[in-house]
Amino acid sequence: MASGKALSAQCSACHGKNGLSKDPEAPNLAGLSALYIEKSLVDYQKGARHDRRMSIIAKGLTKPQIKDLASWYAAFEVSVKVPEI
Ligand code: HEC
Repeated sequence: MASGKALSAQCSACHGKNGLSKDPEAPNLAGLSALYIEKSLVDYQKGARHDRRMSIIAKGLTKPQIKDLASWYAAFEVSVKVPEI
């Protein structure tokens, strides 16, 4: 997981240091399941999912790096406050 932390430095500009994005086009990564993160990154690599930024970033990642990043962001704990209406 330590290498996932180091690798995440290249993600934080868009996805936030704490995995909560400040870029309205970039989703939060904090607390997503490792399976979903991994699948998304592989899909960007294979072209099954396309985004002008993520497709380039994912192509530069190896399988082990994807696994490390996925377990890093999946380990973040998120608390949610549901709006009262
Ligand atoms: C230049 C900005 C930028 C950087 C840097 C960046 N991302 Fe993204 N990321 C995005 C955007 C924008 C999207 C939404 C793309 C889409 O609509 O498919 C996204 C989507 C994702 C998704 C899909 C999330 C979901 O909820 O479906 C994952 C996973 C992801 N990024 C992981 C990473 C990781 C890991 C890194 C670092 C290696 C990274 N990103 C770096 C901008 C960025």
